[in-house]
Amino acid sequence: MKEDFLKALEFRHACKIFDSAKRISDDDLRFILEAGRLSPSSFGLEHWHFIVVQTQGLKEKLKEACFNQVQLSTCSYAIVIAAKVDALRPGCEYVEARFAKLSDSPEMLNFIRSFYADYYAGIDVRQWSVTQCHIAATNMMSAAAFIGIDSCPIGGFSTPKVMDALGLDREQYDIGLIVPIGYRLNPQPSKNRLAFDKVVEYR
Ligand SMILES: Cc1cc2nc3c(=O)[nH]c(=O)nc-3n(C[C@H](O)[C@H](O)[C@H](O)COP(=O)(O)O)c2cc1C
Repeated sequence: MKEDFLKALEFRHACKIFDSAKRISDDDLRFILEAGRLSPSSFGLEHWHFIVVQTQGLKEKLKEACFNQVQLSTCSYAIVIAAKVDALRPGCEYVEARFAKLSDSPEMLNFIRSFYADYYAGIDVRQWSVTQCHIAATNMMSAAAFIGIDSCPIGGFSTPKVMDALGLDREQYDIGLIVPIGYRLNPQPSKNRLAFDKVVEYR
């Protein structure tokens, strides 16, 4: 069990080119998206909106918006994780609906509302939302690796170009990350990570 999970993490790498002749099944795509949907999020606000890009025309437009990275044109699907922005305003309908799931107690809800309003006032909301999307991306990439599917986190993009390609409104969304998925064309390079004791400290 533990070994299976670690094996998946070893298998996952930033795949630089996919085999465009191999396509991911609908069932596997659904499994990967479910792993994203079930991710944790700050205040339970589920900051993400997953846009599954499947047509070649749109993949080519994304590729151009991502400095011509070929992962975008060779993948089976490119999952664009749009980061909610406008929906996160304190008191707005979306936030109220999410908070209503957190507690039945009016006192507790008022406490959460006021705590959230203070928190919100002190942060960069776009950056915060994008960070939450990275968590969903990680879960999807790990889930994909667990069933032998490759991916690449793509943060190298022009946000306005991606927004234009998908017709997204800058007031409503930012771009969290793009995760193309598919099957690798080439063997993966060896893992290059700092040693355990260089990154872990016990106190
Ligand atoms: C937020 C983020 C953005 C990234 N953007 C890109 C990218 O635009 N293109 C790319 O090829 N790799 C990208 N990567 C992949 C990293 O370069 C890669 O994960 C790192 O070099 C470690 O290699 P590995 O994932 O193959 O083990 C990104 C990774 C992260 C976490």
